[in-house]
Amino acid sequence: MKLLFVNCCISQRGEASRTLALAKAYLEAFSKSHPDWQVETVSPEALLALRPFDAAALDARQALASVGAWDAPVFDLARQLRAADRIVVAAPFWDLSYPAALRTYIEYISANGVTYHYDAHGCHGDCAAEELVYLTSGGDVERPESAGVLHWRQLAAMFGVRRFSYVFAGGLDLDPALAGERLAPALAEAGRLGAEA
Ligand SMILES: Cc1cc2nc3c(=O)[nH]c(=O)nc-3n(C[C@H](O)[C@H](O)[C@H](O)COP(=O)(O)O)c2cc1C
Repeated sequence: MKLLFVNCCISQRGEASRTLALAKAYLEAFSKSHPDWQVETVSPEALLALRPFDAAALDARQALASVGAWDAPVFDLARQLRAADRIVVAAPFWDLSYPAALRTYIEYISANGVTYHYDAHGCHGDCAAEELVYLTSGGDVERPESAGVLHWRQLAAMFGVRRFSYVFAGGLDLDPALAGERLAPALAEAGRLGAEA
């Protein structure tokens, strides 16, 4: 069984990234309770190296799809997502959503014919994962309409992933002296989700 970790923890804090701390809390607990699972990671560098689609790239992808060339490299990330048994996405709350590199990743995984397809009744997800977990941390407190959480909840549904969970560690920049205190319950929640997954 395979867990796919989409690591978009781009941070000026490096290893001290609070978002990365959430991911570590989840993954450590998960690995303890699922010792036989493999973890496959999409690194921040890999995400940052992705180029957004322009018209020519869309035409090229469409041409490959039209002949069923699903093993082409442009579908690699979509095939990887489709095959994962569990998906964990970690990204900081930037500009009311998340870093642009993660948005570009979404263009690659949203491949009609790989991760979802259409028929007369609408859109159907084709991914194997039973759960997608979204982990994020923000300077301000969480708001119900928080775009990153909403977007990943909807993406999970589109990909056919039935369960969606998230952790939002909020208010971390309101008073730097209290950041650790505010982060602690979110770390505990991430660990609980990983252990009980
Ligand atoms: C480019 C950038 C944009 C940000 N935008 C927001 C924002 O819109 N809302 C918010 O609450 N915090 C925002 N923040 C603060 C971060 O979400 C917060 O510091 C978060 O904990 C960073 O995670 P990290 O420790 O993993 O880097 C922003 C930070 C950066 C660097």
